[in-house]
Amino acid sequence: MNLAIVGMQFGDEGKGKIVDFLSENFDIVARFSGGSNAGHTVVYEGNEVKFHLLPSGVLRGKIGILGNGMVIDLKKLQREMEMVRELGVEPKILISSRAHVVTSFHRILDEMEDEIIKIGTTKQGIGPSYAAKHTRIGIRIADIFQGDLEKKLKLLSEIHRLELSEEEIKKEARELKETGEKMKGMVEDTEIWLNNAIDSRKSVLFEGSQASFLDIDFGTYPYVTSSNTTVGGIVTGLGIPPSKIDKVMGIAKAYTTRVGAGPFPTELHGEDGEKLRERGREYGATTGRPRRVGHLDLVLLRYATVINGIQEIALTKVDVLSGMKRVKIAIKYECDGEKKRFPPANINNCKPVYEEIDGWDNIEDKNLQRFIELIEKETGAKVKIVSYGASREDTIMR
Ligand code: IMP
Repeated sequence: MNLAIVGMQFGDEGKGKIVDFLSENFDIVARFSGGSNAGHTVVYEGNEVKFHLLPSGVLRGKIGILGNGMVIDLKKLQREMEMVRELGVEPKILISSRAHVVTSFHRILDEMEDEIIKIGTTKQGIGPSYAAKHTRIGIRIADIFQGDLEKKLKLLSEIHRLELSEEEIKKEARELKETGEKMKGMVEDTEIWLNNAIDSRKSVLFEGSQASFLDIDFGTYPYVTSSNTTVGGIVTGLGIPPSKIDKVMGIAKAYTTRVGAGPFPTELHGEDGEKLRERGREYGATTGRPRRVGHLDLVLLRYATVINGIQEIALTKVDVLSGMKRVKIAIKYECDGEKKRFPPANINNCKPVYEEIDGWDNIEDKNLQRFIELIEKETGAKVKIVSYGASREDTIMR
């Protein structure tokens, strides 16, 4: 059985923990989009470990695939592998020969562009690397080992008017080659490798990064990341046909958070927001930025369920809301006087219409059951996993 995991909100739903929890049952964990903008937190033997590029399952000795749909900063990857080795685990990974690299030039561009566009990106060079891919001036992993690497870097510099010196271009090419050579043994045509593995009955967990509302097509454009983070990203970002995805699980937090700019209809401001942020320890895993926080939004979850074909949901951080007298949940939007069950293309003018239920004190409280049943009724998906803490033990299968 091959399972896809996707985020249902704006990221940081707790995908790292759920992937880590489920990865025991799979042979391979494969990432299909994004790069070091992701921050997947896993608790391993009492230590908090943060992954940015490696699929979270590598800590459990699983084979990790970095698919062609990713943009990879090789130096960062090398450092992350070192971190895993220090924990006593030798990471087993394969890197797609067709994945694109993030160079230091893409990072510079990300810094410069975000000064103007003000998306509030993670400054990891993600957007510029994907832009280069689509403008056909990108550099793939396989291209590092070709003779014309300097020419490619020069083109990138010229097109973006970076005015880099010969010396800077030579240095970047040299460093890319050096790191690339160290990783050459892990480079593979992963789309064929992975399809063969599935054909010989190996099971795969497809690990989504970011989330549905950061998707370049379905998210709150332009406040999105630059890749398809939804289920279609698996097909193009790993070369896996839809028929090989057996089940889709969505990860949703019991409330909503967002890092960076962009519309957020259920956002909580002031003291209430502050309290929720502190209780949930809502600070970015990649940038350390305080996350914006708000009520659960079922309009978003309903849409994410439809576009991803989500059958099951893992609901995380229900413990953070415990002790609250009443819990507010957005059931629909009112946008320019019209009621909406699904988010329109622009949600800037949408006001949430709330339903309120009694809060819960503990995991067995029947009010928590009512909360879960409401999510199931409104999305049509089954809440299969409930997570109430960072460690693997704080998880219930329903
Ligand atoms: P980028 O992916 O760095 O280009 O950033 C684009 C937007 O996506 C910004 O609002 C980021 O804060 C957000 N973003 C990117 N990756 C993550 C993530 O892993 N979790 C939450 N937000 C993210």
